[in-house]
Amino acid sequence: MARFFTDNRFHDNGLAQIAADRGLAEVTRNPLDANKFSTPSLRNIALTAPYMHDGRFQTLEEVVEHYSSAITSRATLDPNLAKHPTAGLQLSAQDKTALVDFLKTLSDPQYIQN
Ligand code: HEM
Repeated sequence: MARFFTDNRFHDNGLAQIAADRGLAEVTRNPLDANKFSTPSLRNIALTAPYMHDGRFQTLEEVVEHYSSAITSRATLDPNLAKHPTAGLQLSAQDKTALVDFLKTLSDPQYIQN
């Protein structure tokens, strides 16, 4: 649903595998589901560090750096992310700051205080 900024599906977003966690495949036993994790909501994302299923990133800057450069290429990688060049998107410093600033706009002060 658009207002939650998630598609409520599972994807491989190219994180380097650092633990023996096969993601969705752990449940489905389908090797094509390896490395796929539930897409979390981006609502109030600035307030919910650390990020990813294992909390590997402490800051939104690190998250954006992942999408800009460090995508792990493998058979299960999301087809859209697989279109990125091998070296990653290589966003400029300005683009990265703009993306982080955008993510910060997804905070909802009314929800937080009520
Ligand atoms: C520049 C575009 C994107 C931004 C700014 C972004 C942002 C984020 C953030 C902040 C998180 C961490 C959420 C949390 O831990 O609470 C996240 C996780 C995730 N994103 Fe993205 N994302 C982008 C593109 C994508 C794409 C294209 C896909 C795949 C279709 C994707 C799939 C996922 C998944 C599956 C997770 C959860 C991974 C895990 O828990 O290990 N993202 N994203």
